[in-house]
Amino acid sequence: VVFPEYLHFSDNPAETLQELTQKFAPDQYAVLADEHTMEFCLPLLKTDAPIIQIKSGEEEKTIDTCSHIWSELTRLGFSRKSLLINLGGGVIGDMGGFAAATYKRGIRFINFPTTLLSMVDASIGGKLGIDFHGLKNHIGVFREPDAVVVCSQFLKTLPERQVKSGFAEILKHGLIKSRSYWEVVKHIDLSTQKWDAVIPRSIELKQEVVAADPLESGLRKILNFGHTLGHAIETHFLETDGQLLHGEAIAIGMVLEAHLSFQRKWLKQEELEEITRVMRSYYDLPALPSVEALKEGLFQDKKNEDGKLKFALLNTIGKCHYDVVVDLEEIRRAVVYYHEIR
Ligand SMILES: NC(=O)c1ccc[n+]([C@@H]2O[C@H](COP(=O)([O-])OP(=O)(O)OC[C@H]3O[C@@H](n4cnc5c(N)ncnc54)[C@H](O)[C@@H]3O)[C@@H](O)[C@H]2O)c1
Ligand SMILES: [Zn+2]
Repeated sequence: VVFPEYLHFSDNPAETLQELTQKFAPDQYAVLADEHTMEFCLPLLKTDAPIIQIKSGEEEKTIDTCSHIWSELTRLGFSRKSLLINLGGGVIGDMGGFAAATYKRGIRFINFPTTLLSMVDASIGGKLGIDFHGLKNHIGVFREPDAVVVCSQFLKTLPERQVKSGFAEILKHGLIKSRSYWEVVKHIDLSTQKWDAVIPRSIELKQEVVAADPLESGLRKILNFGHTLGHAIETHFLETDGQLLHGEAIAIGMVLEAHLSFQRKWLKQEELEEITRVMRSYYDLPALPSVEALKEGLFQDKKNEDGKLKFALLNTIGKCHYDVVVDLEEIRRAVVYYHEIR
């Protein structure tokens, strides 16, 4: 089993927090939370540490909020021996981690992920950062947290739509890395699921990839399956009215990118149809704009160098390779397929 060494599973987050603060012996610590995690998650930590509260949402993942966090740490007199506890989803984890990693050249931080997405994805792999000038995660660093505490109790208050969004990454882990895991997760009933049965395996699959390529020079790019088109779609819907959550956009991206792989005759027709069926059973598949409208978002992606569009594409269910150059004509054909099946 390959778990990151900083990872802890816990069914008693208050006790785990106590153990970890004893272990790290900071001169002081504070908790970073948003209004939702303040209300729903903070009580489970049973702490009277100072709270740095920010507003929830991706729009808040900015240098201004980061500046506010640095101000608060300064006001509290945080030293290099102090500790920041990030209590929240991927926004809190990425931004709180970045604020801690840069404050006085880096202080310790612990993530308590409270969304499914942050438990299986954002808290693993050491990517920290903020959005900048409308570009996602444009400013950031690689640094692993000193601890990540995964406690599925937090999910009890997470809105169903957020659960489903995080679930897309779980489906992705099966598709890119493990057919047997895909066979399990494709049947999951989101309303009754005991998450403890799947979260560890998802973390393990992501960690296997990250450990082999921590700075994303190669293999790690397979984690972008569904994300090249998914991000462009996410950006497009952000600019129009109906907003899509990250995982909802990635689910659409996975259908489209499965078709790209089918066009190369890697994925078999029955595999494409199965992936499509599973995605359709969990997610709404809204009508998409033209490829022209998605183009700008596509070329903005950090992973696309020298004007070429590079994708991570499946060879089969459970195996994925990366740096596949795809042209706009192939993308157009994938969008046509999507509109036929949705
Ligand atoms: N670092 C990485 O490798 C990595 C990977 C994937 C995603 N991300 C980042 O993660 C972010 C998305 O994370 P997210 O989906 O967790 O979004 P999020 O942090 O915005 O949380 C979603 C919403 O759920 C609320 N919430 C959180 N926990 C709750 C709980 N237990 N009960 C009730 N409400 C709760 C939050 O307040 C927020 O409104 C993006 O910024 C993305 O870039 C990072
Ligand atoms: Zn993602």
